[in-house]
Amino acid sequence: MGIFKDHIEAMAAYTPPLEGRNPDDFTLLDFNERTIPVSQAIKQALVDYVQGNRLQQYPHYGDICDRLAQYCGVQADQVMVTNGSDQGIDLIIRACCREGDEIIIPAPSFAMYEQVAKVENLKIIKPIYERESGYPLAEVKAAITARTKMIVVSNPNNPCGTLLNPDGIVNLASSAPDVAILVDECYYEYSQCTVAHALDRCPNIVITRTFSKTWGIPSLRFGYVLAAKENIQALLNVRGPYDINQLAVVAAVAALDNPEYTEQYVAEVMGQAKPKLEGFLTERGIEFWPSAANYLWVFPDRPEAVNKCLQQATILVRPKADADGRVGLRMTVGTCEQTEQLISILEQCL
Ligand SMILES: Cc1ncc(COP(=O)(O)O)c(C=O)c1O
Repeated sequence: MGIFKDHIEAMAAYTPPLEGRNPDDFTLLDFNERTIPVSQAIKQALVDYVQGNRLQQYPHYGDICDRLAQYCGVQADQVMVTNGSDQGIDLIIRACCREGDEIIIPAPSFAMYEQVAKVENLKIIKPIYERESGYPLAEVKAAITARTKMIVVSNPNNPCGTLLNPDGIVNLASSAPDVAILVDECYYEYSQCTVAHALDRCPNIVITRTFSKTWGIPSLRFGYVLAAKENIQALLNVRGPYDINQLAVVAAVAALDNPEYTEQYVAEVMGQAKPKLEGFLTERGIEFWPSAANYLWVFPDRPEAVNKCLQQATILVRPKADADGRVGLRMTVGTCEQTEQLISILEQCL
């Protein structure tokens, strides 16, 4: 018998396949990261901070919440910064749910929700996403009971990319005002879809966002939560005062100061590269899910063989099974050049 809670010892760790992801050897289309480096402005801001001899001080976050509030169109007291959005997800679930509560996490989805729910020993209810209808709204509503404490809306969802429109989320939140609605807007800059405008009307909505994807600094771990002021105050009681690395804040400020670098990348990915890949797959009659983000969940015949062939051609994508166990390949969309390379290799592999 170990020293930890039984259910924790019985769990498995969340271990994404990070080994061997060397960008010098592979085109990394497996983690939905930005596929080109960050701007010179971010690099310079980091160098300047280090050179300024301030690493010996504890972090101080300055006006970052004001900056984010301005960017998101909310009030500064509706923002809390986090160590990546993973920390936001963790804090929100921990602060809302007690052992034995029910949490509705439509599946398949990003692993972190279930991981935290298991740590808290929650009862997990998993309605299934459908390719045609996306978020299983009716099933989610039907699954709500007196024990339901939280509903997750991964928007757009990972791995499928489907989106629940803001009216649907507001409708869900209004129909269950005592249930926390965790809206994960990790891919917001790609989808341009948000419920940030609904925080005053629906105080049970809590949004997580990140600088890991479009902004390109997953290595530095910077995310934020948007919620009603009272929710932010409660979450600040749980978050540590220094949980966010100083360099993450330095980089985020530099990124916000130079938004055009990110905007250009988003425009290339969503406006040019993604339509190219979608066009190719459609032409070849290969099924994929409609996606509002920088990735497509693609279902070729013989996915394992296609995955292996892509790997041999130095392209990494991520196999992800659907609810029936059928494996699709989640492919991150990068620049036009990278997408053309992907298409030409796919032509040989399919
Ligand atoms: C839907 C979703 N939410 C959250 C995250 C985690 O982001 P972060 O790096 O900010 O913790 C990911 C990462 O893949 C994701 O796909």
